[in-house]
Amino acid sequence: MDFRNQIVTWLAGQTGLEQDQIDAWIEIPPQPSLGDYAFPCFRLAKHLRRAPAKIAEELAGLARGSITQLADVQPVQGYLNFFVDRARFVQAAVQHVLAAGDSLGRQTLGAGQTVVVEYSSPNIAKPFHVGHAFTTILGQALHRLYDHLGYRTVRVNHLGDYGTQFGKLIVAYRLWGDAAAVAADPIRELLRIYVRFHEQAETHPELEDQAREAFRQLEAGSEPEKALWQTFRDLSLKEFATVYERLGVTFDSYLGESFYSDRIPAVVNLLRDRGILVESQGAQVVMLDEYGLPPCIVLKSDGTTIYASRDLAAVLYRWEQYRFARNIYVVGTPQALHFRQVFAVLDKAGVTAAKNCVHVGFGLVKFPDRKLSTRSGDVIFLADLLQECVDKTRDIIAENARLRQTDMPMAEIDEAAEKIGLGAIVYTFLKNGRERDIVFSWEEMLDFDGDSAPYVQYTYARARSILRKAEAEGQAVPDTCAAVLTSEDEFAIAKLLDGFDQAIVRAAELYEPYILLRQVTALARAFNKYYNHEPILKTEDALLRQSRLALLQAVCLAIRVGLDLVGIGVVERM
Ligand code: ARG
Repeated sequence: MDFRNQIVTWLAGQTGLEQDQIDAWIEIPPQPSLGDYAFPCFRLAKHLRRAPAKIAEELAGLARGSITQLADVQPVQGYLNFFVDRARFVQAAVQHVLAAGDSLGRQTLGAGQTVVVEYSSPNIAKPFHVGHAFTTILGQALHRLYDHLGYRTVRVNHLGDYGTQFGKLIVAYRLWGDAAAVAADPIRELLRIYVRFHEQAETHPELEDQAREAFRQLEAGSEPEKALWQTFRDLSLKEFATVYERLGVTFDSYLGESFYSDRIPAVVNLLRDRGILVESQGAQVVMLDEYGLPPCIVLKSDGTTIYASRDLAAVLYRWEQYRFARNIYVVGTPQALHFRQVFAVLDKAGVTAAKNCVHVGFGLVKFPDRKLSTRSGDVIFLADLLQECVDKTRDIIAENARLRQTDMPMAEIDEAAEKIGLGAIVYTFLKNGRERDIVFSWEEMLDFDGDSAPYVQYTYARARSILRKAEAEGQAVPDTCAAVLTSEDEFAIAKLLDGFDQAIVRAAELYEPYILLRQVTALARAFNKYYNHEPILKTEDALLRQSRLALLQAVCLAIRVGLDLVGIGVVERM
């Protein structure tokens, strides 16, 4: 980073332009022969009133003597190509990582600002399925990233604990429910009667009326309905908790939809005050033509609230509580229209907080030969999927241990299987841009050579074992690196270390953890390539060997911190 900064500061001094502007224009050339950083001088042509090629030549002449950390500067076709002094660059990158330690990439960017991250938000009495895994895993990563950048984060689980489906469930439970069965396996049993409700309702439409009535009673605060609802909620949360615990996910707030039901009148009053609530076919709506959106219903014709009304209330409540700089909704892309409407209603009402609300959508999860739907009861429970992955991973690790005749005790194999198996799932969700659909493939997820968590975790374990060996041989692993590492491979690793902080910032700002995960994976690849060429421990020259070990130490640290930020653990051996 220092190198880039030096270039930026110097260019800003020469041109009188803002450093941020210059920094944004700096490019990383696609080929090493074009330098390590490049500045496109056509950006300055207007400002300096000269041809880009001429500017590049003049600046190159001036830069040569004055930027100390450079090996060379060349003007090439209107570009100013900077070549860093490799040995010093590698040294600086390694020192930076080692000095930062666990705080690598930590910043104060967000100091004094609060970010609300809403994620997971499953529906009560419904399976916690793989679709919820996406929001849970993505949201958790975003929370960690923002936390690392110095923001105060508030993790909210906006439980789907309200709505007409509870009317259905209450009716179904009264007809076919079995308390003991529900207590033993809550969600499966509730799902069973929910599915039965839908089957029966096809021939007995009066069931639907009963369900509507039951929900009306619930919303009016009727005790028997409330008690049933509370039971469903408690049992569901208990079951969700086991998945959260396993994934290391926690929340600061579980205020779900039900919490907002008695805050709707305040929303209605606000919208009325602003004169934007109008009647349409008996319902109370806000027209959103000027936003190019369909009207947003706030109250249905029978006076009951809907999903959107509760979200409107939730924004106001969160604003009151947290004065958020950002209020992030990690919810599937199919709900994009819903969020645009909610934010637009608030904007139209003059609520400034609307501008700080962001919907972070994501794609679908597909299983090549299974389909997912709650109504048919054919769902893949996340808990089962996690277990299946951990079991498969354990088989692979145990087999590897047997082949390599490592005397890994069973407890260690179990622990590794848990971290690697869960890591494999987390990696699968975060390895690409979030809007892309995910097609599940065990082979890819558990490919120890591919783009997978096991690959990166394996690399980490391998690098750690080299460090342990060095220590066992009596070589203290140093925390400083001399300016002696100049090979292509070492330089490639250093560049990836150097880009680490920036990757965290970009991953957070674009809500795309894959940016960091790819950086970490690239680092693992670069290290493996290096180690295949260079048996580090056999290095004759002491200073060189020490510096290589320091580089190795930095690689381990960056991989561990990077994986941790997206919610993946590491193991010492596997
Ligand atoms: N409970 C909803 C579902 O499972 C997601 C809730 C999203 N969050 C919100 N504030 N509307 O589909």
